[in-house]
Amino acid sequence: MSLISKYDVPAPRYTSYPTVPYWSENPSTDTWIKHVNQSLEKEDSKFAIYLHIPFCETLCSFCGCNTSITKNHLVEEPYIENILKEFEMYLKRVPNLKNRQLLELHLGGGTPTYLSEKNLESLLTPILSKLNIADEKHFSLEVDPRRTRKDQLEILFQLGFRRISLGVQDFDSEVQRLINREQPYEQTKYITEIAREIGYTSVNFDLIYGLPKQTEESIFETVKQTLKLKPDRIAFYSYAHVPWLKASQRLFTEDDLPKGHDKRNLYENSRRQFEEFGYVEIGMDHFALSTDSLYKAVKDKTIHRNFMGYTDRRTDLLLGLGVSAISDSWTCFHQNEKILKKYQKQISENQIPTLRGHILSEEDLLIRKSILELTTRWKVKVKEVFVDEIKNYLFQMELDNLIIWNENELEILEKGKPFLRNVCMGLDLKLRKNSPEVKVFSQSI
Ligand SMILES: C[S@@+](CC[C@H](N)C(=O)[O-])C[C@H]1O[C@@H](n2cnc3c(N)ncnc32)[C@H](O)[C@@H]1O
Ligand code: SF4
Repeated sequence: MSLISKYDVPAPRYTSYPTVPYWSENPSTDTWIKHVNQSLEKEDSKFAIYLHIPFCETLCSFCGCNTSITKNHLVEEPYIENILKEFEMYLKRVPNLKNRQLLELHLGGGTPTYLSEKNLESLLTPILSKLNIADEKHFSLEVDPRRTRKDQLEILFQLGFRRISLGVQDFDSEVQRLINREQPYEQTKYITEIAREIGYTSVNFDLIYGLPKQTEESIFETVKQTLKLKPDRIAFYSYAHVPWLKASQRLFTEDDLPKGHDKRNLYENSRRQFEEFGYVEIGMDHFALSTDSLYKAVKDKTIHRNFMGYTDRRTDLLLGLGVSAISDSWTCFHQNEKILKKYQKQISENQIPTLRGHILSEEDLLIRKSILELTTRWKVKVKEVFVDEIKNYLFQMELDNLIIWNENELEILEKGKPFLRNVCMGLDLKLRKNSPEVKVFSQSI
């Protein structure tokens, strides 16, 4: 059996540990606030804010994000009021939010540029004016080139944003038709050039491999066109097919999806194209030019991975505001209510809209650190007590020359890099103890 067939199994993406389906120690809102306060106790602690804007005008059938599809822009103002009210609740209960430094701000979605110029300002100004902002701040946002105007990018630039990630996915017209996302190359080119003209220093692309009807030839062309625009960073995501969670993913035929070997070849061929052009593969699914700060973060060993993907540095707190937003105080995870109406009702009743979360045990913290190390550095020193168990679980991978042990240090070899998620499963004590009976994760390849 080939390695791809052998290891193409359902596997978490490990943007957190424990992974969301294994969150069990739910915090009450009060306990969550206690963890937030603890995370900002040290005088030099720094934090990040994530703002979730769920709105999109149309639904892309592949999309796995938490979205609310509407063309009625009257939804903007009440939603901004909700986020600002949520922010005020935190300010009241976490006094150090005003004293510690804000290092990162990320606008994600949905589509942040769904908001008008005026509404972007009325969301961000009240938040930024109340905080102490670090000189070396990193402000970034996700941009849908089909729904972005120059004026929006200018206002965001004035507010301190320097990095944008453009949703590109694929340039092939047949693939675009099947994913319900018609986006001419010229549109992506225009936003890329405008952003650079305004002064954005990191313009990134999101591409996906494994979409319906993608072929080696079509993705070769997509990558070729991408390279012409020279994004500073490329997130090259593996298409996560989770139709049991996202009904819209049933809008195309499963037979059209490249799988196993075919899917992996799409990645490998594109990786060669990126590398020939000077990009460096960074951890899982990411490439960066050597001039980009993520590449520097790899060199300086400060690179971190969280719910937003790879970031340059770890902060002591990631505070997520808005419907479904996830927060992380390192010792506790917290997710907001996922249904927009319920989120809005809880905010109107002056409640922090807790849906669920997880308080990490000592053991969780140890494993979390190890998985983070593996996903950012391809190797990790494993605690003595866990070594035998993990060696046992990963024995086949060792025989297949995908990993190597140097005493207690586990290292992923070049040949093993496609199977990073499988190796992480070896460290995932919760999954090993209690593997799910129904499908909850997308395939690892
Ligand atoms: C919040 S979304 C995009 C922002 C913006 N709305 C847009 O579409 O341009 C962030 C990124 O997640 C990725 N994504 C969404 N659903 C995915 C899936 N099922 N599998 C892999 N990546 C996915 C896409 O590459 C997308 O650009
Ligand atoms: S890919 Fe972007 S625009 Fe499309 S539905 Fe998802 S969040 Fe909305």
